[in-house]
Amino acid sequence: MGANGTDTSAASVVLAARNLRKLFPIRGGVFSSHVGDVHAVDGVSFDVREGETVGLVGESGCGKTTVGRLLLRLIDPTSGHAFYRPPPEALARIDALYGTLEALATDEASKGQGPELRSTLNELDTFAQQYSIYRRSLRSVQELRSKLQIVFQDPFSSLSPRMMVKDILGEPLEIHHMGNRAQRQERAAELLREVGLNTEHLYRFPHEFSGGQRQRICIARALALRPEFIVLDEPTSALDVSVQAQILNILRNLQREQRLSYLFISHHLSVVRSISHRVVVMYLGEVVERADTEPLFRRPLHPYTQALLSAIPIPDPELKRERIVLSGDVPSPAAPPSGCRFHTRCPAVMPICSKVVPKLLEVRAGHFVACHLYPTPIGAGTSMGTLPDRPLSMESAEAPLTSESGPSGTTS
Ligand SMILES: Nc1ncnc2c1ncn2[C@@H]1O[C@H](COP(=O)(O)OP(=O)(O)OP(=O)(O)O)[C@@H](O)[C@H]1O
Ligand code: SF4
Ligand SMILES: [Mg+2]
Repeated sequence: MGANGTDTSAASVVLAARNLRKLFPIRGGVFSSHVGDVHAVDGVSFDVREGETVGLVGESGCGKTTVGRLLLRLIDPTSGHAFYRPPPEALARIDALYGTLEALATDEASKGQGPELRSTLNELDTFAQQYSIYRRSLRSVQELRSKLQIVFQDPFSSLSPRMMVKDILGEPLEIHHMGNRAQRQERAAELLREVGLNTEHLYRFPHEFSGGQRQRICIARALALRPEFIVLDEPTSALDVSVQAQILNILRNLQREQRLSYLFISHHLSVVRSISHRVVVMYLGEVVERADTEPLFRRPLHPYTQALLSAIPIPDPELKRERIVLSGDVPSPAAPPSGCRFHTRCPAVMPICSKVVPKLLEVRAGHFVACHLYPTPIGAGTSMGTLPDRPLSMESAEAPLTSESGPSGTTS
């Protein structure tokens, strides 16, 4: 159940990211040759269901925007897929195939089993041809683009200063050959009403609006083509708190009315908590924890998530929470640490951590963690190491992951 009171656990999957990987080449030297790669996104998997908001959090540079851009196919991945509306049985089979690939890659006994590897890859390829957004023809990508939209952090720079609102909202309709001029104008007026503005605003330029109103126009533009999924990349970070609340309400209402799905990227953990059904936590290009919002905020399991959430101030002076200050700087994504990428800063680090990459395992129903402290499901009688399993307060104020309020080494 999400913070906005709806249960989306049984809803159909709009997008399923599987093993998404994006390396950006680093060039250097006089010949500008390839000298390395930035591991921006490295094996990221999660689902976005119909009518659901997935919050995506993590320090600056951990790969959040890159994930958003990959899911909209604004960039292509180095490897991996985003499956668009895969039927449940197809997705189950896809996951089984990825499981087989992982087993074949790690199991010594199965190394050299070429035929099994080939048949697994072939079957995966067949699913990719049917459902992966990266396998679509140019024409069908354009069709898909109308269903997948984005709203950026800075509403001013994302609106053309020379266009009136009626043209800003009419442009996507014109590009997709939808309606005649009068119909587009009518749709533009309808869109403004949906975001709480009115028809007189049609004839104004972006500079004639406040920051909050401009963000409403950006949301209206993203809605123009009746999308199914919107990436909201820090959509309220540039706004003051009361305007933020209005924008969040508009987003919630639109979601309810139109069954929209959102990927909500933000440094503001309390905002993420208030709007998300589920939360994905990233560190240096990888997913380290993934769960429904309330279980994650009440009882974060991964040491990194615990440190992030410990920075949220509690308004009640009677309540105390130990702030976990991480030592060391965030390592470079061009040379991520071996084993668990968090081992250079983890307060609970163990000898195994620098050697073996922890798998993202389901340790409680719907709660996934990649950490050697949780080798088996919690409650299955395993020792969980020495990590303090601290429940966090329900109430929290605004806590951006800035260098002042986030873990040490955080940049905004
Ligand atoms: N086009 C690009 N070329 C090279 N490197 C890139 C490119 N885009 C992103 N990166 C690098 O990939 C990593 C992830 O960047 P990304 O913008 O996804 O992070 P983010 O989590 O959105 O950060 P922030 O919270 O600051 O917005 C960073 O190290 C960034 O420098
Ligand atoms: S795997 Fe080890 S280093 Fe990584 S988060 Fe868990 S305890 Fe810390
Ligand atoms: Mg970003």
